[in-house]
Amino acid sequence: MKPAISGWTKVLGIIGSPLSHSLSPLMHNAALDALGLDYVYVPFPVSPDRLGEAIQGLKSLGIVGFNVTIPHKSAIIPYLDRLSPEAELAGAVNTVNREGDLLVGYNTDGAGLLVSLKEDLAFEPGGAKVLILGAGGAARGTLAALGNGGAVSITVANRNREKANELIGHFAGVFNKIEFHSISLEVLLSAEHLQRFDLVINTTSVGMNNTSFNGFSGSSIKGVSASFYDMVYAPPITPFLELARLHGCRTANGLGMLAAQGEIAFSHWTGLAPPRGLMKSCLLTAVK
Ligand code: ATR
Repeated sequence: MKPAISGWTKVLGIIGSPLSHSLSPLMHNAALDALGLDYVYVPFPVSPDRLGEAIQGLKSLGIVGFNVTIPHKSAIIPYLDRLSPEAELAGAVNTVNREGDLLVGYNTDGAGLLVSLKEDLAFEPGGAKVLILGAGGAARGTLAALGNGGAVSITVANRNREKANELIGHFAGVFNKIEFHSISLEVLLSAEHLQRFDLVINTTSVGMNNTSFNGFSGSSIKGVSASFYDMVYAPPITPFLELARLHGCRTANGLGMLAAQGEIAFSHWTGLAPPRGLMKSCLLTAVK
């Protein structure tokens, strides 16, 4: 059991907006409780116009560390004292650790994704051909993680193809051995077959509230042997994953990534690993 909150209790938390659906307080407090650590993890809703003030306040209040979620993952960067190489490459921070007087930004989403791909899909990025759906912040973090993981070819499909081109242009300068392609989502789903990919990963919000990609149907996926990963985890089986499953493909949702990024963040703050599997089982219970 965690000790009762007292003057010794160390404070962790998450900033974002909105936070009412965040599952991070649940899984972090469960892990703190299981290890009997005198910490508490608190949600701090912060609107974009108050981000600078909020960081200053958290620093003055002596917070030990915190997670950062939508919409602050990139906006927070100018307020931090240092970034890890992973955060620098992803252009996004999801974990901040106070180190002495400095606030240091990390990105544990990328490593969390690789852990989840391995555990949930037995997928290793080394030598793989990957298709990424979306070209926003989550896609950028995915490119960084898969590029570092040794993918040989990365295709970005986006509704707005210009954004896909900008993204691959940025990474082509970083990973010069990887073959990069872009395609409009509409063209991909109407004409292209997905046979040439080992992994298809959805980084967009399509799938939340059971929404589906326009044009994604059984004919796009027939005979495909790729694994399918959806960062959306509520509902646990999106229409995108359902279709892939029906066609016999391996599938996984983003719960494993959420748990794994949380485990790594927890270790940054406390120096300890949470009990194995605890965060994931909290999440599975919460999203049933
Ligand atoms: P995040 O940081 O979560 O990645 P974002 O930066 O706003 O969020 O990016 C959202 C991504 O989802 C974009 O790639 C967006 O496509 P566009 O660039 O064409 O807007 C994609 N997206 C959002 N809604 C979509 C939809 N209904 N169909 C297809 N793509 C969608």
